[in-house]
Amino acid sequence: MADRNVKISKQNIEKQKEFMLLIKKNLGGKKAFAHVETYGCQQNVNDSQRIEGMLLEMGYTLTDNREEADVIIFNTCAVRENAEMRVYGNLGALKHLKKKNPSLIIAVCGCMVQQEHIAARIKAKYRHVDLVFGPHTLWKFPSLLFDVTEHKERVINISGEGVIAEGIPVHYDGGAKAFVSIMYGCNNFCTYCIVPYVRGRERSRDEEDILNEIRTLSQSGVREIMLLGQNVNSYGKDRGETDGFSRLLEKVCEIDGIERIRFMSSHPKDISPTLLHTMAQNEKICNQLHLPLQSGSNRVLSEMNRNYTAEKYLETVKLARTLMPDIALTTDIIVGFPTETEEDFTKTLDILREAKYDSIFSFIYSRREGTKAAELENVATEEEINNRFQRMLDVQNALSYECNAVHEGKIEEVLVEGRSKTDEHMMTGRNYANKIVNFKGDDSLKDKFVKVKITKAQTWILYGEIIEILDK
Ligand code: 5AD
Ligand code: SF4
Repeated sequence: MADRNVKISKQNIEKQKEFMLLIKKNLGGKKAFAHVETYGCQQNVNDSQRIEGMLLEMGYTLTDNREEADVIIFNTCAVRENAEMRVYGNLGALKHLKKKNPSLIIAVCGCMVQQEHIAARIKAKYRHVDLVFGPHTLWKFPSLLFDVTEHKERVINISGEGVIAEGIPVHYDGGAKAFVSIMYGCNNFCTYCIVPYVRGRERSRDEEDILNEIRTLSQSGVREIMLLGQNVNSYGKDRGETDGFSRLLEKVCEIDGIERIRFMSSHPKDISPTLLHTMAQNEKICNQLHLPLQSGSNRVLSEMNRNYTAEKYLETVKLARTLMPDIALTTDIIVGFPTETEEDFTKTLDILREAKYDSIFSFIYSRREGTKAAELENVATEEEINNRFQRMLDVQNALSYECNAVHEGKIEEVLVEGRSKTDEHMMTGRNYANKIVNFKGDDSLKDKFVKVKITKAQTWILYGEIIEILDK
């Protein structure tokens, strides 16, 4: 069982609050801007909300505009190489801003810089970066920033092991949906994945801390919660509990004002029938499941260290569909794992057809230094892999359309997010399946539940007509 002394003490969090106040005092009421740029997954988005929460408490005003910022923070991702390349490119572009404004502070944090070789590269080659910190030192951001602003030091701090820090201010965007991280880290060591190396071992937040956060969100108008973790099905296992996640879900369902609950990600090896029953029995838990498959070939799955077979995976899908006939399924697929042959790939296509996903998140394998798979030889050429990727998208697009067409004619509840970005005459929101639904309406509907009759389906989007405004 993991060491439970992972929670940062109240005194240490209080100390950070003192640093926030000191920075605020030193700003002396002068308007100062901070810009936070997020790469990667929802957990990173949630981490950025913490960074923004701290910045607001320090007296900074948040801005989307790098040019006017006094502090720029890149919260980075390490999962694939292209995300890292984008960070390097964007960091290079900040050089001229620093030249124009030498007092500009540039910080890089997140999973990418938790890798020692990357922190070393930034230290040596990106001299205009003032501050580097990893996911384990995020809670210390105020004191690290203080060292930069007051002592004019360059600070690189990626030390420390996995921790849980409660009581950090979080900046929510004020909409009706919010992310809540319920656990951090990952124990699975899938052979292609860098996450366990940079985010540390699994550690679950205390139930009361999570529930209190959600209660507060509900009081400020949040109606939909997305519970986040690398593998939410093992919530509580580090405390020796079984089915802790199902119990947590049931408690979240009891919170007044929260009408919809989603979660991601679930590992197929850990998802239990109990969880599927809990989903089916509770109205508030959306009939929607993200269940990363990665590959349809048992040989590749074994080399990936995924600990399930395609057959076992399909059994879970079958049980989910039996209990929740309208369930929307999504998945992650990696194309071009080093030893993947054409035959292996064909098996992935077979499962896409059999599982009938509403949509997939597909990635071309990216070699990650330090992982086991990085030592394997590639058997396919880049051209073959690109060709597989395209074929997969073609198969999936047709399937996604079929899944969307099933919604035509149905009346569905939609939580309205605002005006559609692609068509200003339309309002946009999401149904239980997390599918985008566009319909004619006005701004007063934002953050409300409405009933919409779905009139037309496309591959990525549903269109409909509003029937009723619900005052849930
Ligand atoms: N290359 C490509 N995709 C990856 N993922 C994780 N590591 C890699 C990698 N090295 C994908 C997996 C995972 C998702 C979050 O990112 O599909 O489920
Ligand atoms: Fe990476 Fe596997 Fe952990 Fe997901 S479960 S974060 S893919 S190691």
